[in-house]
Amino acid sequence: MTHVLSAVAWPYANGPRHIGHVAGFGVPSDVFSRYMRMAGHDVLMVSGTDEHGTPILIAADEAGVTPQALADKYHRMIAEDLCALGVTYDLYTRTSTRNHHAVVQELFLGVHANGYFVEQTTYGAISPSTGRTLPDRYIEGTCPICGADGARGDQCDTCGNQLDPHDLKNPISKINGETPEFIETQHFFLDLPALAEALTEWLDERAASETWRPNVIRFSQNILKEIRPRAMTRDIDWGIAVPLDGWRENPTKKLYVWFDAVIGYLSASIEWARRSGDPDAWRTWWNDPEALSYYFMGKDNITFHSQIWPAELLAYAGKGAQGGKPGSYGELNLPTEVVSSEFLTMEGRKFSSSKKVVIYVRDLLSRYQADAFRYFVAAAGPENQDSDFTWSEFVRRTNDELVAGWGNLVNRTATLIAKNFEAIPPAGTLTAEDEALLAHVESAFATVGELIGRHRQKQAISETMRIVAEVNKYVSDTEPWKLAKDPADRERLGTVLHVVSQCVADLNLVLSPFLPFSANEVDRTFGGTGRIAPMPRLEEVEDLDGGAPYPIITGDYTDVPAWRRHPLVVGTPVAKPSPVFTKLDPSVVDEELARLEA
Ligand code: MF3
Ligand code: ZN
Repeated sequence: MTHVLSAVAWPYANGPRHIGHVAGFGVPSDVFSRYMRMAGHDVLMVSGTDEHGTPILIAADEAGVTPQALADKYHRMIAEDLCALGVTYDLYTRTSTRNHHAVVQELFLGVHANGYFVEQTTYGAISPSTGRTLPDRYIEGTCPICGADGARGDQCDTCGNQLDPHDLKNPISKINGETPEFIETQHFFLDLPALAEALTEWLDERAASETWRPNVIRFSQNILKEIRPRAMTRDIDWGIAVPLDGWRENPTKKLYVWFDAVIGYLSASIEWARRSGDPDAWRTWWNDPEALSYYFMGKDNITFHSQIWPAELLAYAGKGAQGGKPGSYGELNLPTEVVSSEFLTMEGRKFSSSKKVVIYVRDLLSRYQADAFRYFVAAAGPENQDSDFTWSEFVRRTNDELVAGWGNLVNRTATLIAKNFEAIPPAGTLTAEDEALLAHVESAFATVGELIGRHRQKQAISETMRIVAEVNKYVSDTEPWKLAKDPADRERLGTVLHVVSQCVADLNLVLSPFLPFSANEVDRTFGGTGRIAPMPRLEEVEDLDGGAPYPIITGDYTDVPAWRRHPLVVGTPVAKPSPVFTKLDPSVVDEELARLEA
């Protein structure tokens, strides 16, 4: 049994999340975590809402509310959506908790004490017409490194390098097109060059493990070549205070949102432990070098997880060129793997809320089954290349694969048993075909489990569906409905249905990380408790340190069936089933496309 941290990217609180977001980090992290628990590991799955930074400030300005009010609204909405999607967070929290602020400040002070911050005078952009500071990402220009146009002040999406707005060639403000003015301002820079050697060593070792997706490791190693100090404070009035005299009180200086957000993985683990009644319970996942940690995100987040976050951890531990010693949290584990997905597009276009090229999680779940969406993401999501969500493909996958494949197998098996035996029949003598099928289905635990463990979920689901098709073929070949007509074939009928229901039970477990809602229904149909796939719940809690109450996602996921065959119990009642998956009318495609254009 290994301690496994599932660290899931923190969605911004600047609006509701669309399916492109959750396809990247939500569904894959949940499939992995559910599988790892069934495989016997001790999983801690944490995340929360990312509430600081300019995107929230700008959205609040537009809505005419305070940033906190905006964050409150969307934190609740996002938590509800993720819960409805069945994502089994041990704790889904938020970055405006007092706990998070305190943990972030402890990290800052540790890094500072070890000498990995350099204070520098830089040029901050202000808008000449309003006099207000201009956030980095609202300045655009030509990338000083690769020469690409349209580079943002914080990052160039073409070469992936992080930038300073002042270095952009021909900078203009995206807000009103004017040329920004640059004024002198003081900031703390994380001394990344002093951490470069330690980062390289860690990444080389990760590369040697050959587990990371090739594009992710390549990208991460590439950005090391351009490493330089990065500002970890900002001229902004929304965020976490810089915990130093002379800074703390300054209302216009805060920690950079990315400095604080990545620390959320640690602060959420600590909050989870404090809520569990054992405040030190987080330490095994973070201090034990044997523990594993997997970080799930979309590709625009790689830099922050394969460079900034490990650099913060190394600096806190005193493991850079400056030396130093760990603070009170001790030496903290670096990521085992950065599991990054590519992008999802919609009907061939980039998601865009303003252009209405979007479907929000909430709207999708109000009209379709969560498992139908989870299936689509697993089978056709952006795992290792960009992929496209189209309504016609969603309908096709649901009808032809889920309903006609797995749903059909479940339905006809349960119907035949209910009609002929009302309970799981005993098996008589097994034929070679029976034995072969049972052995093949049982082997899915090993093959599919291994694929999920290596984040090859596309292969895992297609392998499982291939086996589903084989079992369907076995049913067609053995023709149990014909056997049912002749009393002389009753024993053979029982044997066939016993074999098939064992296969269904096995496949239902194998599919349960992907399709947890229907897994419970299938289990109930075959006389089980209907609780093989645990579900998260939304809970209103007090802030542990006297802040405002807030909703979290949590749950008890310890009692899960082991990832192996559980032999059927003869005589377990089987009722006439109702279809597990809803077949979609083809008119859905036009209806949804009309909504897009509306
Ligand atoms: N809010 C960021 C985004 O949506 C992700 C932050 S991940 C974190 O791109 F862990 F760093 F918070
Ligand atoms: Zn560039």
